[in-house]
Amino acid sequence: MSARLFPRDRDPAGRTDSPIRITVDGEPVSGVAGQSVAGVLLAAGRTSWRTTRSGAPRGVFCGIGACFDCLLTVNDVPDVRACRRPAADGDEIRTQSREEGV
Ligand code: FES
Repeated sequence: MSARLFPRDRDPAGRTDSPIRITVDGEPVSGVAGQSVAGVLLAAGRTSWRTTRSGAPRGVFCGIGACFDCLLTVNDVPDVRACRRPAADGDEIRTQSREEGV
């Protein structure tokens, strides 16, 4: 588990978040309710999940929904901004390349 995501029972802030579980390209990833999809991915140690036509990696850039660098496919809906989409338990996330989306 990433050092950036404390287990609920060991969180020094005493949060009462509800755990969620999503899959990213078929691999299970844990998060907490209220995180964006980008937040779950970053907490899991992933900094990029899309590539441009030239193969350059992309992930979160602006974090506010303006740049569209963080696009991915959520539950078969392509071109979802990971920084704007709240993660939900059971979400199936697929990374995408330039040829697949925008
Ligand atoms: S990081 Fe810019 S739109 Fe998501």
